[in-house]
Amino acid sequence: FEIEYHDAIPSTNARARELAGEGATDVVVLADEQTGGRGRLDRTWHSPSGGIWLSVLFRPDVPMAGTPVFTLAAAVAVTRAAREAGVEAVIKWPNDVLVEVDGEERKLVGILTEMEGEADRVSWVVVGIGINANVDPDDLPSEADAMSLSAIRGEPVDRRRFTQRVLETFDTVGTDPEAILDEWREYASTLGREVRIDTPDGEVVGEAVDIEYPGSLVVDTGEERVTVAAGDCDHLR
Ligand code: BTN
Repeated sequence: FEIEYHDAIPSTNARARELAGEGATDVVVLADEQTGGRGRLDRTWHSPSGGIWLSVLFRPDVPMAGTPVFTLAAAVAVTRAAREAGVEAVIKWPNDVLVEVDGEERKLVGILTEMEGEADRVSWVVVGIGINANVDPDDLPSEADAMSLSAIRGEPVDRRRFTQRVLETFDTVGTDPEAILDEWREYASTLGREVRIDTPDGEVVGEAVDIEYPGSLVVDTGEERVTVAAGDCDHLR
């Protein structure tokens, strides 16, 4: 990957999309600070200096329906790097990277994947990853359940090394998606738990028993096994 670095930029995802429109590929846009960071559901994403705000642009040979695995890969990559840095992060389906502080689950990372193309083959994918790395707790949004790596460790992480470790995963995701799923299972806090998932087709309640390619959760409702492709997930216990 070629890296394009910015001290400050409105949004690395917006910049990566712009590059995609110009025909680029295999580019990482990285910024110390975002002035207009965007989250899912059109929310703003608070991105002060000290975090790791990055977007990976690539053109994988997969259908639209296969893209959730890239979002899982991002969650796996960051969780692995966080654990190497001494922070016991876990993944909540599909891609929340959390850490438990005083019995509460707090969010370390946000992931926003965008793509364009045809149903049978994407043209490009942008995986945007926002990591609360060396962010002072006073700079975290107070209304959100956010937490930073440095606040937990009591010292900063090496952002350059952390970013490199995260990007290494994107070299293998295209070739070995099953390995991503296996590592996801290892880090998941959702598997084995009672969950309630709000899906476009209604609510699914039961025990989360597995994840399936390209990222669907398998839920045992007691009567049947349901495969849920997308939805908002709550851990019941
Ligand atoms: C979420 O809502 O949880 C997803 C947040 C994604 C934030 C990252 S930071 C880097 C990239 N650029 C953006 O504007 N958003 C993503």
